[in-house]
Amino acid sequence: MLEKKMSCKHLEGISAVLDKNEYYQKFKAYRDKVLALGNDSLEKTIAVAVSLCLVCAVLVSFAAVALKPLQINNKELDMKRNILDVAGLLEEDTDINTAFAEKIEAKIVDLETGDYVENIDANEYDQRKAAKDPAQSIAIPKDKDIAHIRVKAKYAKVFLVKEGSSIKSIILPVNGYGLWSTMYGFLSLDADGQTVQSINFYDQAETPGLGGEVVNPNWRALWKGKKVYADTETGEPALSLIKGVVDNTKPGSQYQVDGLAGATLTSTGVTNLVRYWMSSEGFASYLKKVREVKS
Ligand SMILES: Cc1cc2nc3c(=O)[nH]c(=O)nc-3n(C[C@H](O)[C@H](O)[C@H](O)COP(=O)(O)O)c2cc1C
Repeated sequence: MLEKKMSCKHLEGISAVLDKNEYYQKFKAYRDKVLALGNDSLEKTIAVAVSLCLVCAVLVSFAAVALKPLQINNKELDMKRNILDVAGLLEEDTDINTAFAEKIEAKIVDLETGDYVENIDANEYDQRKAAKDPAQSIAIPKDKDIAHIRVKAKYAKVFLVKEGSSIKSIILPVNGYGLWSTMYGFLSLDADGQTVQSINFYDQAETPGLGGEVVNPNWRALWKGKKVYADTETGEPALSLIKGVVDNTKPGSQYQVDGLAGATLTSTGVTNLVRYWMSSEGFASYLKKVREVKS
């Protein structure tokens, strides 16, 4: 009741101020003139259409500005969910923010040296944005650009899953062209920097049911335990998607994953992006250093 009285008082105050305003008076006079016109008058039709557009524009702008923080928050939450998922830490009832804060540590890696970069705040760094900034990115020579991405950020943002002070797994961002789209995802490896835990594509636009099967949990499960390098010393990736089903009894099958049925081009894209990011162009130097520290 008290609130109602106060808001009425406020409205009275606003209307008193408006009544003294010259432009408001002009607006009111014009409004009354337009309202007095017949419904088939051209001026009234235009005035009503323009007013409606103005009201809608104000509402849409307000919604866009007011919802922006919510959108940013949801985007961040979604990224954390993807990282927890590829780390094998996502259950139905997982509290995303708490689990991420407790179990995951973001680090920045200089792709050329394989060293951690300590003077950049990993929580603020956006690798995808950096790749689009000429000052923070490197053009990839055509003969080395097997993932067809043209540029890469100098620094990559990796995520470590820690158990006490030791690293349990390493989550690496990867991207590369499929058939229709650049696919963005994460590849998680055991602390040996060699054995695959999981792969997860969080942004891609391949055809649902064909190349879009890169998000199928059954196909993703085939990656567990596969090896990236035949020889970790050379840092030359051996992992690839093959046409058909992998015969796990055959030698070399540890470097093979089933290709996606009816989607050879997307499958080739996945092979290429994994090979690119696991090569010396990507994380090979970093993974070598992780192995050296561990041994
Ligand atoms: C509408 C349409 C969508 C397709 N989408 C994909 C796709 O997302 N990824 C892909 O590799 N192939 C896609 N293909 C199939 C390719 O054109 C090509 O035929 C296929 O990659 C060959 O794979 P296969 O040798 O396994 O049949 C699509 C084909 C059509 C007609």
